[in-house]
Amino acid sequence: MKKSFFNLLLLMITSVPASSQEDLIVNIDGRETISLNGTWNNIIDPYETGFYNYRYKERDENDPEAYWNRPVVKKKTDRVEHGYQAPYTLQVPGDWNSQRDVFKYYEGSVWYQREFDTQDLAENERAYLYFGAVNYEAHVYLNGKKLGSHKGGFTPFNFHIPKKILKSENNFLVVKVDNKRHAQEIPTLNTDWWNFGGITRDVKLVVVPETFISQYELHLSQDQNIQQAKEKESFELEGRIQLNRAAKQSKVRVEIPELKLTKSFPITGDELSFNFEVKNLDLWSPDNPKLYDIVFSLNGNQINDKIGFRKIETSGKDILLNGENIFLRGISIHEEIAQDKRRAYSREDAEQLFGYVQDLNANMVRLAHYPHNENMTKVADSLGILVWSEIPVYWTIDFESEKVLDKAKQQLKEMVIRDRNKASVIIWSVGNETPVSPTRNQFMKSLIDQAKVLDDTRLVSAALEVGYNEEGINHIDDPLGEYTDIVSVNEYLGWYGGLPDAAQSAQWEVAYNKPLFFSETGAGAKAGYHAEKENRWSEEYQEWLYKEQIAMMKRMPENYSGMSPWILTDFRSPRRNHPVYQEGWNRKGLIGNEGNKKKAFYILQNYYNELENQ
Ligand code: GCU
Repeated sequence: MKKSFFNLLLLMITSVPASSQEDLIVNIDGRETISLNGTWNNIIDPYETGFYNYRYKERDENDPEAYWNRPVVKKKTDRVEHGYQAPYTLQVPGDWNSQRDVFKYYEGSVWYQREFDTQDLAENERAYLYFGAVNYEAHVYLNGKKLGSHKGGFTPFNFHIPKKILKSENNFLVVKVDNKRHAQEIPTLNTDWWNFGGITRDVKLVVVPETFISQYELHLSQDQNIQQAKEKESFELEGRIQLNRAAKQSKVRVEIPELKLTKSFPITGDELSFNFEVKNLDLWSPDNPKLYDIVFSLNGNQINDKIGFRKIETSGKDILLNGENIFLRGISIHEEIAQDKRRAYSREDAEQLFGYVQDLNANMVRLAHYPHNENMTKVADSLGILVWSEIPVYWTIDFESEKVLDKAKQQLKEMVIRDRNKASVIIWSVGNETPVSPTRNQFMKSLIDQAKVLDDTRLVSAALEVGYNEEGINHIDDPLGEYTDIVSVNEYLGWYGGLPDAAQSAQWEVAYNKPLFFSETGAGAKAGYHAEKENRWSEEYQEWLYKEQIAMMKRMPENYSGMSPWILTDFRSPRRNHPVYQEGWNRKGLIGNEGNKKKAFYILQNYYNELENQ
C-alpha cells in the first residue's frame, strides 16, 4: 500500500474530532471518579509558542513542537525546545497567582501537564475528564489528541474521552489555560477583583456506564400550595432525569430510604419527567437544614445525593420560605482566602468562610460575582445558609453582541445545572451593576427569561442601578425591576457619595411592589488603623457608616426584605492602589486580610442578633 494512502487511512482511523463539551455531568462526587489533583508540570507561554508556529499559524496536531505533544529526544542531535518537569510545577486545584511570584500579575497562557494511569474500560463503560473550573479559557488534550475547549472561569465542564485515545498507562494530559481579559468575554476587561488564573478547582477522571444518568433534578412541585401541603402533610415532588443518550427499554429508580420510598419509572429515549406524593416531608430551612439521602439509579448503576426540599417564592413585598415570611440577614463573599491571597476551592475553605458567616449570625450569603466552587453550596446546604448565586455579567459588558450574550447564557446554564438540586440556593442573579440602556435591558431580560426556563423554582435577581437625586430621594426604578422577582440594589451612601450621616436624610422610593434587597453597602477600613471616625480608612469610619446604614435600614419602606453588605473579608483587587491603606486590597471587608474582625463586624452582628430575636 502506498505510504501516503496508508498515512491518510491511519489519520482517518485515529484522528478524533475535537468534541464539543458534552452535557455537564451533575453531582460528580456521587460518581466513580479518580482524582487528578496534585502536582502538575507547567510551561509559562505568553507568546503562545506551544500553540502557534513562528508564522503564528496554529500548529498541526502532530507537530512535535506543539506543547500538547510529548517532547521526545531520540538521539543527542535532536532539537527539542519544550519540556515538562520540576521545578516548573503548579498545584491543582489552585490559582497560579498565589503559588509563585512570577505568576502574581500574570495574564496569558500557561500549559499544565501530568500523566496518569487507569484501569482498562469495560465494554460498557465510558470515561470523561471533568474540570470544576478553569479561568478563563481551557484547551484540553490527551495523548496528543484534542478533547475540547471551554470558556468561562467559574463553572464546570467535562469532555468525553474516546476509547481509542485512553491508555492504561502514562496518559499524557495537557491543558492550555489562558486568563487574558477581553472586551467580549464574561466578565469583560474591568472587574474589581483579581484575575486569578489557572485550573482553580478539582480535576477528575469519571467512569460511567455507556448509558448513564448525566443530569437530574428533584424538588417540591412549584405549583403546590405549600401551606396546604404542610397542613395535609402531603407533598408533591417533581423531577426530571436526563441520560447521556437514548436508552433502550430501561428502568430509572428514585429512592428516599428514610421515607421508605422507592419509585421506578420505565424510560425510553434520553429523558424522563415524573412526580409523586410523599407524606411527612421534613422541609429544609435555615433552622432545620434537613437533607435526605436520595439514590438515583439506571439499570442498577447508582448515584447518591443529599437533597433538601423547600419552597422559595415572593408574595407582593415579601419573600416566603416554605410559606413563611423570611428576612435575609446576608453578607457578600468573594471566593478568596484572604490570609493566603488565593482563590478558595476546598471544603475546608468553605467551612472557614461559613464559620465567619455564622459568627455574624447571618442566614444568607451573596456569592459574588460569579458561581463559587461547589463546596460552598454543599456546605450552605448542610448549614442552612441561603445562597444568592451569580454569573459575572459585571459592569460594562458588550451588550450589543449576540456572541457575548451566548457566552453569558452558557455560564448561566452551567451554574443552574450544577446547583439546581441545592436547597440553599434561592436566588439566581444574572448580573451586577450593569449600566441602564435599551440594549442592556434587552440583554439582561433574555438572561432573566433563560434563568426562569432553566429553573422555575427559584427567584431571579440582579444588582440593579439606583436613580440618585439631589433632594436625597433615591428612586429604585431600574427598568429590569419589571422582570426580576426581587428588586436588589447596591448603595454606597457615605462612601462613594457624601459622608455616612448622609443616610440620615436619605429617602427611598421603590417603583415595584416587590421585595427590596440591598445587595451591597459598605465602606473601606484598614484593619488596626484607629482614629476619629471622620478619618477615612479608619475602623471607626467604617463602624460609623454601618451604624448610620442600619439606622437608615430601620426606616426603609415595607418592601425591605434583607441586605448583604459588602463584604465579609478584604479581597485582592488590582484597582485598589493606595500605598498605605490598600496595596492591592479592597478594604471593605468586615474582616481584615489577616483574619482579624474590624469594629464594624460587631455592629452588623448586633443588628442581625436583634433581627433574629425580633
Ligand atoms: C461595586 C461592585 C463591587 C465592588 C464594590 C466596591 O458595587 O459591585 O464588585 O467591589 O462596589 O466598590 O468596593
